Amino acid sequence: MASVPLRLTDHAYDVLIGPGVRASLPDVVRRLGARRAVVVSARPRAWVPDTGVETLLLAARDGERDKTLATVEALCAEFVRFGLTRSDVVVSCGGGTTTDVVGLAAALYHRGVRVVHLPTSLLAQVDASIGGKTAVNLPAGKNLVGAYWQPSAVLCDTDYLTTLPRRELLNGFGEIARCHFIGAADLRGLPLVDQITASVTLKARIVEADERDTGVRHILNYGHTLGHALEKETGYALRHGEAVAVGTVFAGRLAGALGRIGPARVAEHQDVVESYGLPVALPAEADPGALLRLMRHDKKAVTGLAFALDGPKGAELVSDVRQDVVAHVLDEMPRAPLAALIGDTAPDTAAPETVAPETART
Ligand code: GLY
Repeated sequence: MASVPLRLTDHAYDVLIGPGVRASLPDVVRRLGARRAVVVSARPRAWVPDTGVETLLLAARDGERDKTLATVEALCAEFVRFGLTRSDVVVSCGGGTTTDVVGLAAALYHRGVRVVHLPTSLLAQVDASIGGKTAVNLPAGKNLVGAYWQPSAVLCDTDYLTTLPRRELLNGFGEIARCHFIGAADLRGLPLVDQITASVTLKARIVEADERDTGVRHILNYGHTLGHALEKETGYALRHGEAVAVGTVFAGRLAGALGRIGPARVAEHQDVVESYGLPVALPAEADPGALLRLMRHDKKAVTGLAFALDGPKGAELVSDVRQDVVAHVLDEMPRAPLAALIGDTAPDTAAPETVAPETART
């Protein structure tokens, strides 16, 4: 088992990673001094560990459709009915959409009750459940209402990953692949638990430096400017990690075009992404004009186009990138039919427990 500490000025917690770490939940709850727990789980009853205290188990569904203020309200109403107090604890068990919505309910209930996350997808283990971002969607868009609410512990049980379909694993590998360019070592070929640990360690250090996303935390969005645009432009047919993978290849090419890195490093972007079996080409159907428009609306872009890009000092946010350069690099990207991109990576033999595909928030 690995334990990654995350130390903030006024809050500290550990992320435990490995097979069977969900069994630590009663210890975590006991150390918090909680007398009651509400477990909100998008997974079968058998996946939910004992808390060691009086517990209310609530069923949830992964997926964007339930990531709403209505779900937060319904959860809080159940907390009240159960008599949950500020000294008790909420536990989430599921993918990133579940850790997001349960995290927000915990942030708001009684102005904040402790929360422990048990992320069950690779994407949630390496990104969504770490670092305290919580959010729900509004009809106008994703993640428009949220709060920073750090968990009291995160238990990344790798047993949960054994039944994930290959495409869902790849979704998480998209986030792991981009770690190569934002400060992690070369993770290719390492055992999965080591790749998760390295990705979580990197994210923990970045969040410690910039909890509220005002500076260096932007680099976690490496590959995401085009990635988010591709998700939207393909109607979410391309999953988050796949879109980030293509966005990572693009970020390498753009950094090359801007003279920030040399050709070998540009090629390394494609090599790393390809080595995870992730797509490297733009969907042939994607309209470059629409992608440019979507990228201009990226949250990082206060004015113009902004990207997290590699460079002589490592990855950093680069603002006001010239549109003609971006358009040219988009034109030069390899292209393949969307069906081929998805087909290449989609032997989806989902286990019965498998739920809605993971999307992610930034
Ligand atoms: N997923 C990006 C972040 O947590 O900042």
